[in-house]
Amino acid sequence: MATIDPRTADAGPVPLRNIRFEWPDDTRAVWHPTRPGFAAACNALSLGMPYGEPYVIASVRSVLGDIDPDVAPGLADEARAYIDQERGHYRQHRRFNDLVTVEHPGLRRVERWMATSYRWLRRHRSRKFNVAFAAGFEAIAFAAARWIDSNRRELFAGADTLPATLFLWHLAEEVEHKNVAFDVWEHVDGNRFRYLAAMSTSFLMLVWFIFLGTITQLWRTRRIFNPITWFRLTSWGIRFAFEVLPVMAVTALPGHHPRDLADPSWMPIWLRDYDPESGTIPAWDAPIDISRV
Ligand SMILES: [Fe+2]
Ligand SMILES: [Fe+2]
Repeated sequence: MATIDPRTADAGPVPLRNIRFEWPDDTRAVWHPTRPGFAAACNALSLGMPYGEPYVIASVRSVLGDIDPDVAPGLADEARAYIDQERGHYRQHRRFNDLVTVEHPGLRRVERWMATSYRWLRRHRSRKFNVAFAAGFEAIAFAAARWIDSNRRELFAGADTLPATLFLWHLAEEVEHKNVAFDVWEHVDGNRFRYLAAMSTSFLMLVWFIFLGTITQLWRTRRIFNPITWFRLTSWGIRFAFEVLPVMAVTALPGHHPRDLADPSWMPIWLRDYDPESGTIPAWDAPIDISRV
């Protein structure tokens, strides 16, 4: 049972931002006119959130009673705040997904496979495996956020602002809570082989379901045989893998902690512009208030 590094504990629980996205009736599944393949891949990722994140939440919640407050003061509170933040994510994605599945009813079959897969893990894997999955899931989310942050202009320029802001807000909060599931896993288990197996499972499920969701949309929009779409998707996939796979490998090394990984530069600054009174955050491409930097 590991103690918590004071640098982690000092950060305190992550904040809950009650952001609610209001989706206009004309929101389209192809919300990126110049990067439709990217929009399809993002939609497929979004589709998994109401299944993957509740599983991750349940995994962390299942071990809350095993956290020793004398050994890890504050960790249980951090874990509860993390759970609240994650719950906000998948609720917002679910509302967006409802719009996407109206246009792409075939995605409902993919959703059922996702639901079955995460339900199976929840019922048939150990609590230690599940919390290791949560820690690995977060490592992947952090690496994805870092890649998206540095490529956000290339990826999102010209897109409908609201879906772009949803994805970027979610990823920004993934950066913010990058330590929590790892700390919980390290406290209640800490077996790096189990972590590696669980994280690899998480990654393969992510890739498989994004692939299924993407080809389902490309088929319906008749882009399935478009070579430019596939060239771009393959290019993004390779670049994404070059960011994510090394981060995953590093996080499995003995002595590693997520705090050792440099945060992306823009997302933490952007989150500071959240307005708690209105429950809104500026659009991702709005100018940054440099007085806050
Ligand atoms: Fe999340
Ligand atoms: Fe997360």
